[in-house]
Amino acid sequence: MSAQAHPTLALRPMLPSDTPLLAEIMHESVLELTGDDYNAEQQEAWAAVAEERETAEKLATQLTLVATLGGSPIGFISLAGADRVDMLYVHPAAVGQGAGAMLLDAIEKLANARGAAALTVEASDNALPFFQKHGYSGQQRNSVSLNGEWLTNTTMKKALALKGGSHGQA
Ligand SMILES: CC(C)(COP(=O)(O)OP(=O)(O)OC[C@H]1O[C@@H](n2cnc3c(N)ncnc32)[C@H](O)[C@@H]1OP(=O)(O)O)[C@@H](O)C(=O)NCCC(=O)NCCS
Repeated sequence: MSAQAHPTLALRPMLPSDTPLLAEIMHESVLELTGDDYNAEQQEAWAAVAEERETAEKLATQLTLVATLGGSPIGFISLAGADRVDMLYVHPAAVGQGAGAMLLDAIEKLANARGAAALTVEASDNALPFFQKHGYSGQQRNSVSLNGEWLTNTTMKKALALKGGSHGQA
């Protein structure tokens, strides 16, 4: 990556061989990017989810897109069903360069093409400003139990523009 002055950010569908790297991205992302809002025990409990078999199964069965920088995977997003963003993680070494925005925009378009009128996400506290900036508004606060720790998040929702229509609210 460093050989290129401006490594290109791109998107592609996930391949089965991406699974271990995506788990590593999730693990590092949680441990390094969420410390302002969650304590070390909560971060460890959340990061451990990355290694779980259920996570690999979700990556494989959900609609999962991978962001690459200079060809190397640096982040991913997954859509559960037609209308729920499940996982969104960008590697700490690659945050703040627009990968998250690119992934979210692409999944919104794919969800819309699948007929979704709105998207929801259970946004972690650290990611709440990111989703707000992209048009999501808070619906309710939640507490979820992960590997023996309780973590808070917020269900957020965004109406998608109707496919082919000129009005933004669905
Ligand atoms: C939320 C997350 C996916 C955003 O990914 P990203 O690639 O950094 O997203 P973007 O680059 O599109 O936007 C990040 C914003 O933070 C800003 N930013 C600046 N410095 C930053 C830094 N060191 N780290 C993160 N963001 C930074 C960016 O400039 C950008 O703001 P802008 O759009 O006003 O310019 C990423 O931070 C992440 O993986 N967080 C931890 C895991 C998590 O909470 N996931 C959500 C689960 S619901």
